[in-house]
Amino acid sequence: MSAENTSIDHLLTENRRFAPSAEFAADAVAGAELYEKAETDREGFWADQSRELLHWSTPFTQVLDWSNPPFAKWFADGALNVAYNCLDRHVEAGNGDRVALLWEGEPGDERRLTYAELTDEVKRLANVLADLGVGQGDRVAIYLPMIPEAVASMLAVARLGAVHSVVFGGFSADSLRARIDDAGAKLVITADGGWRKGKVSPLKPAVDQALAARNGLGEQETVEHVLVVKRGENEVDWFEGRDLWYHDVVPQASAEHEAQAFEAENPLFILYTSGTTGKPKGILHTSGGYLTQAAFTHRNVFDLHPETDVYWCTADIGWITGHSYVVYGPLANGATQVLYEGTPDHPEPGRWWDVIQKYGVTIFYTAPTAIRGFMKQGRQIPQARDLSSLRVLGSVGEPINPEAWVWYREVIGAGKTPVVDTWWQTETGAIMVSALPGVTETKPGSAQVPLPGISIDVVTDDGRPVGNDAGGLLVITEPWPSMLRGIWGDPERFKETYWDKFADQGYYFAGDGARLDEDGDIWLLGRVDDVMNVSGHRLSTAEIESALVAHEATAEAAVVGASDETTGQAVVAFVCIKENYLRAHSTEGLVDQLRLWVGEQIGAIARPRDVYIVSELPKTRSGKIMRRLLRDVAEGREVGDTQTLADTMVMSVISDQVAKK
Ligand code: PRX
Repeated sequence: MSAENTSIDHLLTENRRFAPSAEFAADAVAGAELYEKAETDREGFWADQSRELLHWSTPFTQVLDWSNPPFAKWFADGALNVAYNCLDRHVEAGNGDRVALLWEGEPGDERRLTYAELTDEVKRLANVLADLGVGQGDRVAIYLPMIPEAVASMLAVARLGAVHSVVFGGFSADSLRARIDDAGAKLVITADGGWRKGKVSPLKPAVDQALAARNGLGEQETVEHVLVVKRGENEVDWFEGRDLWYHDVVPQASAEHEAQAFEAENPLFILYTSGTTGKPKGILHTSGGYLTQAAFTHRNVFDLHPETDVYWCTADIGWITGHSYVVYGPLANGATQVLYEGTPDHPEPGRWWDVIQKYGVTIFYTAPTAIRGFMKQGRQIPQARDLSSLRVLGSVGEPINPEAWVWYREVIGAGKTPVVDTWWQTETGAIMVSALPGVTETKPGSAQVPLPGISIDVVTDDGRPVGNDAGGLLVITEPWPSMLRGIWGDPERFKETYWDKFADQGYYFAGDGARLDEDGDIWLLGRVDDVMNVSGHRLSTAEIESALVAHEATAEAAVVGASDETTGQAVVAFVCIKENYLRAHSTEGLVDQLRLWVGEQIGAIARPRDVYIVSELPKTRSGKIMRRLLRDVAEGREVGDTQTLADTMVMSVISDQVAKK
């Protein structure tokens, strides 16, 4: 189990409690009756939510079809258009003038788009995409900065019944290529570049590289067109016939576009995430169930009052949080939200707090790593701003330590806002475990309780409930509306990864360790597999190891996630260098080269914090690398039990080599 385990004793001594104020509870969207309703009739509960929150062009009569597990169908005989639900229906209801997006670029430029304007933009873009041959079921890759066109692109693809695959702008050309190939994308929507840390970070060159023949791959074959938004104003190469400027085609297109309804299980998007092997998994989500749970959770977990709230989720659209809580949840609910392009600390550390003050943000959703970063900078920075508009704070992506939780509530939330710690995953599509801000008495550090309609347990390795005051593995015991419907093109891997472990019980295995406290509240303890969580981003040890061994100098590599005060975990790599490389080269500068290399292969987020060159790796007699021991070294702890190693001396050699560095 991961390093977070070491802090478990500390976590469980946490006994601060924060009950919702009577004032908050009185006006809260969600009350305790939701739990009772869901308890009495789980499927009926979801059906009611879906009917209440969404517009169905063909109403469904079936709720859950679980006749062929683990392949679920929700609301299967109903039909809807996802984009219509996020846009047109709000305009038709008379809310066209409500602001949908309060966009702020990193250099300080601004755009406000009302629901009517965003609907218009999406209709034009849908017409352009349709003219370029995009139709139901086709895949479109999106590689964009956080600009309104990113949101419009996702919705235009959805409007056509096509499938988007958003690739985070920080991923390399190689990662982009792998994702485009795997999905067989027909079109790519990108920008010349976007603003990051005070300068333009180019995107189009990575798309050009991804589509060209290189690294032993031929030219990419499925992409027919690249649609390019002008944002960074950086110079770009141009491929006539393939490339189109967004501004040349979208404003001119017709704003008439009638949304066609698609069946509830029509695929909506693929989003790649790291697993325990080197190859990212294309997590597949579909329409009706996904949108139901995204809308339900967004409304109830954040206590959304769409007429008055200004909501801000800081996630990039390249991650699941950006999908469910920047695009689909908020827009389905008709929320007004901030969309910010840049980094938290540009041009200076208080930028986010300036944004909150300027737009009067009332609901704020971010990651523990950001909160810990702000704690380090000191409370005087947020305290120099007026943050009094805030009334709900959310956390996501990794366990939040009680100190950070309490700081968030005290310093950012003026000691009075509820804090909701939300546990979920790319695979779950929407929030699964969280307090409800008007109902739950919150405990710093615990994600607490399954949401109404969600069934979670913590079990032993062979699937028996651990009961209160014990630890084990987190499982989801009943299907849920926004569950992944599979791994794109790989049904076997879907079964193997999530369902085989508890096949007898039919549980979904999340890959997280958890503990139930004496009240039965859930405390997440981190991953139990070879997946790391760095700044709330999932990275695979195997993927980084295979990038490292692809470098000419590397013979062998082992990667571990070591605990890090700010980023939760950090990537630490141990590499053995090839003999013949050592004969011909000095190792000076090699560590930096290897760090950069990983950045080029996967993306800057995967760059190791530390690379240690060692002469050997610790292995068992059967050849398995013992990462647990390497983690001890990386975290500066005494090395644990080495008895199962083939060569018990190897750890002292490694410790010496690391100490010398
Ligand atoms: O380990 C859990 C951690 O993030 C993993 C999911 O990562 P990803 O699919 O990238 O989605 C992140 C955003 C939903 C989980 O398996 N995780 C996520 N939220 C929490 C968390 N760990 C503890 N507490 C959370 N609130």
